[in-house]
Parts: sequence; C-alpha cells; structure tokens
Amino acid sequence: MKKQLAIVLALTLSGAAFAEDSVADIWKAKCQSCHGADGKAKTKMGEKEKIADLTDAGWQKRHSDEKIRDYITNGSKENPKMKPFKDKLTPEQIDALVKHVRSLSSESAAAPAK
Ligand code: HEC
Repeated sequence: MKKQLAIVLALTLSGAAFAEDSVADIWKAKCQSCHGADGKAKTKMGEKEKIADLTDAGWQKRHSDEKIRDYITNGSKENPKMKPFKDKLTPEQIDALVKHVRSLSSESAAAPAK
C-alpha cells in the first residue's frame, strides 16, 4: 500500500515538472532541428529551405497568432517540410508554441535568454 502511494506520488510529481518546461522541451524535440534553438533557422535545413528568421521584427508583425497557430497545426501549404503537428501535439501544446514563437522576437530580446 505504501509503495503504491509512493509510485503515484512520483508519477504526479514528474508530470508536474514536465508540464512546466514542456514548451522548451517540445521546441527542442520537434522544432529545433530545422528552426534552430533561437528560431533564426541557422541550420542546414533552414538554409536549404530558406526558412524565415522567426525572431525578425518584420516577420513577427506580418504573422498573427492565428496564422502561426495555423502553420503549426496544419503545416505549410508551400513547403511540405513544415509538417502539420495537429496529430502530434495537443491544442494546448500548440498554443504554448505560439507564445514561444512570440517570445523569440528580437524586439523582446531584452528579456534574458533561457
Ligand atoms: C523538418 C523541418 C521542420 C521542422 C521539424 C519544423 N519546421 Fe517549421 N518550417 C519548416 C519550413 C521548411 C518552413 C517554411 C515553410 C514555407 O516556406 O512555407 C517552416 C515554417 C514555419 C513557420 C512559418 C514561417 C513563415 O515563413 O511564415 C512557423 C511558425 C513554424 N515553421 C513553426 C514550427 C514549429 C513550432 C515547429 C515545431 C513544432 C516546427 N516549425 C518544426 C521546417 C520545419
């Protein structure tokens, strides 16, 4: 009985920790290989596919949250390399990624980098 409780507690705690830093983890696991850690797409794939610098202030202005969410959810219609993530991520995770993309903006570069 005591052992079971400990397991439940351990699972609950690890779940909470995951929820907390999951956006950074998701970015690292699913986006970074093409978009780079900083979103500037200074990667092999980024250069080959001419992926936009997501930190660029002009790019940020041209893209509404809805547009970014649509890109992540449904992928790019122009470039199949940017795949739809709707089957891989929950709507909550996609929302968190939209915020993450916003936080990459060079205009908010004053904020300490993680
Ligand atoms: C296999 C490489 C690859 C991965 C992984 C990837 N992307 Fe992309 N992404 C691209 C490419 C290529 C484009 C450019 C699409 C275009 O030109 O229409 C793009 C475009 C985008 C754009 C729109 C940029 C623009 O030009 O308007 C956003 C936002 C974006 N990706 C977010 C993400 C997020 C968030 C993830 C992780 C969940 C991710 N991407 C994972 C390759 C990738």
